[in-house]
Amino acid sequence: CGIVGYIGHREAYPIVLKGLKRLEYRGYDSAGIALFDGTALNLCKTKGKVADLEKKFEETTSTSGNIGIGHTRWATHGVPNDVNSHPHYSNSGNLVIIHNGIIENYDSLKKELSKRGYTFESDTDTEVLVNLIEDVMVNEEVKLGKAVQIALNQTVGAYAITVFDKRKPNELVVARLGSPLAIGIGEDEYFIASDASPFIEFTSNAIYLEDGEMAVVRRGKPIKVRKIHDDSLVDPYVQELQLNLEQIEKGGYDHFMLKEIYEQPDAITDTYRGRMLVDEGIIRMAGVDDNIERIANAKRIIIVACGTSWHAGLVSEYIFEDLARIPVEVEYASEFRYRNPVIYENDVVIAISQSGETADTMAAIKLAKEKGAFVFGVCNVVGSSISRETNAGAYTHAGPEIGVASTKAFTTQITVLTLIALKLAKYRGTISDSDFRYHLQELDRIPAKISKVLEENEHVKIIAEKYKDAPNCLYLGRGYNFPVALEGALKLKEISYIHAEGYPAAEMKHGPIALIDEQMPVVVIATRKGHYEKVVSNVQEIKSRKGKIIGIVTEGDEAVRELADYVIEVPETMESLTPLLTTIPLQLLSYHIAVMLGKNVDQPRNLAKSVTVE
Ligand code: G6P
Repeated sequence: CGIVGYIGHREAYPIVLKGLKRLEYRGYDSAGIALFDGTALNLCKTKGKVADLEKKFEETTSTSGNIGIGHTRWATHGVPNDVNSHPHYSNSGNLVIIHNGIIENYDSLKKELSKRGYTFESDTDTEVLVNLIEDVMVNEEVKLGKAVQIALNQTVGAYAITVFDKRKPNELVVARLGSPLAIGIGEDEYFIASDASPFIEFTSNAIYLEDGEMAVVRRGKPIKVRKIHDDSLVDPYVQELQLNLEQIEKGGYDHFMLKEIYEQPDAITDTYRGRMLVDEGIIRMAGVDDNIERIANAKRIIIVACGTSWHAGLVSEYIFEDLARIPVEVEYASEFRYRNPVIYENDVVIAISQSGETADTMAAIKLAKEKGAFVFGVCNVVGSSISRETNAGAYTHAGPEIGVASTKAFTTQITVLTLIALKLAKYRGTISDSDFRYHLQELDRIPAKISKVLEENEHVKIIAEKYKDAPNCLYLGRGYNFPVALEGALKLKEISYIHAEGYPAAEMKHGPIALIDEQMPVVVIATRKGHYEKVVSNVQEIKSRKGKIIGIVTEGDEAVRELADYVIEVPETMESLTPLLTTIPLQLLSYHIAVMLGKNVDQPRNLAKSVTVE
């Protein structure tokens, strides 16, 4: 989602509207703009695209005003609809806000405010925040900037916000924690946006707020930046912008896919943020907590999904069985629904879908529900059809995924499923307390370890250059990393159109070994924890048939390094979490090969991001 703001001598509407269009690449499902013209607040919002907003605005609302804020929303709390769209205003109608991010403790704040007589039109955390600010202003008799600061110090979560008070239409207050915010500095005018693309033609001077900073942006005055938590003043660094528009839209990356690969450390953190309390040794997930008996006492878990989501299901099969000791079956949604599957009432069905719109998965859910099963959804898109159809669920919170080849959706799905498995294991008593805590600690270290793997990018590029012309490629892995091999092969097929197959490493000798010759690159996931010696023997078998070996190994590995043509190292972690690391180099490898072959990485031929046909 994106935010845009303007304060100055021009009409704000065209600037804010165009700014929102520039931010469309960030993905969103609704949009809105609020302007103040000295007497009236001109506010219009709608579910849908910025073009829909433009039409509705111009048909129904005055577009005048020198101060304005606009927002494209990607739903986190509450389904995408007109009411939940931003901007939101406070009960008095004086304060208007736009917000990216999540206020995790909004529920308790909302209860507090409700007791004090506040009412809420929407289901959003944002409306809670703007009323909290109002409440502080009234009770503590402080100005807007101070009230924002006090209010933010009571929140837990992530945000980039812009707020104004229509009684003081010469100032915007902005703040950031975990969600980007840039301030463009013009002459007697300021621009606010999630990145510099909305104001690039007006100014090349910008301040990027750091996490935990806020600023009061007042017409005709220099900007004051301070730390939210201790009020200390910060000397803002004014940056000279050099990026061109297209670069900015992809956050400086050449493709969305690459951007999304690099977003994974943050995306995974967003997935477990507020759910996993490492120090306390607790996992909180409302969708699971509210139904814990039903889910934990399942005789069987059936996972239904398609494509990459199906691979995430396969990874979680190992985790559920290993930790929670519940038998799991992972099914292609399409196969499941066209059989006459045996489903018992005490089965729990988990449907995994990034888009939440995949027709086959949807149909499988309906069938399972008809047969009396409890259906739990793991979706990325809030308010999507699947998230509404399921009995309960957990969102992945990966943020919008634009590249057709799924990357961060996959790793965040695994993260959510791991959290669920751990919760069930704890409830069922199949995991020791210390093991449980150790899992949480190690999961908490995964984002940093992924960042480390991403440092291998240049090295992966060299390997890509070497094998980009191969007509075929084989991916091998065992245990937890067998599904990763499948996913690696799928990524290569999807975007580079090279034929690739994933196989369990030991199964190679029952067929694919016939394909191996000196032309054949074989990617082998051989991390130290997962049946390492066995995989080393498989590598030897490939080597003796002159296959080319690319090993994904644990840092410091020697045995595979000796046999392989190339190795890519990943940090050590517990076996169940290795897929979150070993997936990354495979994503990068397919990405670079596709780029080198001149393929359309973000929109590969014949594929769709969400397949709503059966
Ligand atoms: C399409 C996409 C895949 C995706 C699959 C399942 O085929 O191209 O990337 O994995 O659908 O999508 P879902 O949104 O249900 O996860």
